[in-house]
Amino acid sequence: MKEISYEKMKFNPFNLIGGEWMLVSAGSEQSGCNTMTASWGHLGCLWGHNDPTAVIYIRPSRYTKEFLDKETHFTLCVMEGAFKKQMAYLGSVSGRNENKIAKAGLTPVYADGTVYFAEAKLVLICRKLYASQLQESGFFYRETIDKNYPARDYHTMYIGKIEKILARDEEYLG
Ligand SMILES: Cc1cc2nc3c(=O)[nH]c(=O)nc-3n(C[C@H](O)[C@H](O)[C@H](O)COP(=O)(O)O)c2cc1C
Repeated sequence: MKEISYEKMKFNPFNLIGGEWMLVSAGSEQSGCNTMTASWGHLGCLWGHNDPTAVIYIRPSRYTKEFLDKETHFTLCVMEGAFKKQMAYLGSVSGRNENKIAKAGLTPVYADGTVYFAEAKLVLICRKLYASQLQESGFFYRETIDKNYPARDYHTMYIGKIEKILARDEEYLG
């Protein structure tokens, strides 16, 4: 994996997050880790000098949330298309009940104070800057709540500063 700069990246964020999906992971070798599939999120600039940031949205029930809350960092991994089946598995079974990482054939890499996977083609290493649960009072349309939160289990948004980007090949370089 080669470190690349965010200014040089070329990709479509809608296809990357919503289409290819990503693995959200947190943890360490000492205290354990977990991962889950996510297809909701944002990449952009916030605070600092247009600091590159990533936003993810995690429901309260996710085991991965326990690691996200404990740790200072999280990672976003984009996988090869061949991993789609494993991504669907990692997004439907909880790490509370199964050793998902081993079953999906992923190799954890513990580095930079966090965890990512050797099989990833793109890794964003993020330091948590902000976390807050979406509030019912903030929604402008009842329809958004009824459609997405019938159980009122609002996502927690985590804003992370992207501290490092690792890429396996030239695909993401402009
Ligand atoms: C394509 C896809 C996208 C998903 N996106 C999200 C998401 O953005 N946020 C979220 O909280 N759950 C999302 N999920 C659901 C979690 O991945 C799923 O509940 C997972 O089993 C949680 O695992 P955990 O309990 O081990 O953390 C998604 C699932 C799939 C299949």
